[in-house]
Amino acid sequence: MKLLVTGGAGFIGSNFIRHVLQAHPEDRVVNLDKLTYAGNLQNLADVAQDPRYGFVHGDIGDAKLVRDVARGVDAVVNFAAASHVDRSLIEPEEFLKTDVFGVYTLLEAVRELRIPRLLHISTDEVYGSVPQGSSRETDPLRPANPYSASKAGADLLVGAYWQTYRLPVLITRSSNNFGPCQYPEKVVPLFITNALDDQPLPLYGDGRNVRDWLYVLDNCEAIDLVLRRGAEGQIYNIGGGHEVENIVLTRQILRLTGKPETLIRPVKDRPGHDRRYSLDSSKVRQLGWRPRHRFDGALEATVAWYRQHEPWWRPLKSGEFRTYYQQQYGDR
Ligand code: NAD
Ligand code: TYD
Repeated sequence: MKLLVTGGAGFIGSNFIRHVLQAHPEDRVVNLDKLTYAGNLQNLADVAQDPRYGFVHGDIGDAKLVRDVARGVDAVVNFAAASHVDRSLIEPEEFLKTDVFGVYTLLEAVRELRIPRLLHISTDEVYGSVPQGSSRETDPLRPANPYSASKAGADLLVGAYWQTYRLPVLITRSSNNFGPCQYPEKVVPLFITNALDDQPLPLYGDGRNVRDWLYVLDNCEAIDLVLRRGAEGQIYNIGGGHEVENIVLTRQILRLTGKPETLIRPVKDRPGHDRRYSLDSSKVRQLGWRPRHRFDGALEATVAWYRQHEPWWRPLKSGEFRTYYQQQYGDR
């Protein structure tokens, strides 16, 4: 297969490209990425010289560029997005531009060039908070912040292109990922790197919000399976099946880094903070997928990765964003 992967220099996209090149020796991958603060070519340094891999610097909202790079591919897999909820509370515009308009641009290119498949990567956050039970693919969307609303907008647009044009589209909605190369603004790498630096771990609200954690390599396997075996027009939930309260996750990170619980700093809650996400993943399991990594071992491996890759994350920790966020939510 010849793939166009968009947003491949980010966390999940880079892990996915590496997975594809390892699992499918005959495949070729072009990675189109804007290299925002979250995009990092170091994430793919080990495959940069692989003749089956190529990189193009650009925006998925650039219709001409997208047509140029998409021509002749067998499938487009879209990871490109503004992806952090906290940023979307402060600067939502980029979320609408990339997560909605960018996806529209990809859909139009796929339509015009008659590309055989578009797999769009979405999130469990489109369902909104789930007090009880687990979300199924047919459940209504109730996004509660600008990030999840923009992702939901794209999902609806993708669905509309299926209904209207029978465009060969698929969607995956995964739960919270963790693993190597995740930008240290998301809770797992933020808390690991803060703990390694003996800095406070800012735990929002009462710390009892629940997320369903999925190791990124398990997600990559599921995405690959859906790409090759999923049915057109279908949505597939991909949940890790490991739901924990943030406070439990925080204590586990402190144990693994060998740091004291006195580093936990309760701070003001995130506005509109979804209480719980939970996915029913029976549909993707019927395709033959199971998460292969146990949560405890995967979290331990993730802590080890951050310990061993300080040169990767150290420069990112001095970014302006945390200061900006602190300005907005002063008591963080
Ligand atoms: P990330 O922020 O680490 O990476 C996003 C990548 O997209 C970066 O390389 C960035 O440079 C690129 N990008 C951003 N805007 C672009 C544009 N306009 N054109 C081209 N490239 C652009 O994100 P991630 O955590 O790897 O998430 C990837 C996808 O998975 C996103 O669509 C996200 O919504 C979804 N998702 C993430 C999680 C998670 O826990 N991280 C969970 C569920 C779904
Ligand atoms: P995050 O990694 O931002 O992912 P998402 O909001 O997409 O689920 O946050 C995961 C959980 O951790 C969420 O309930 C918010 C919480 N959190 C904190 O308590 N402190 C933090 O500094 C961050 C970034 C998140």
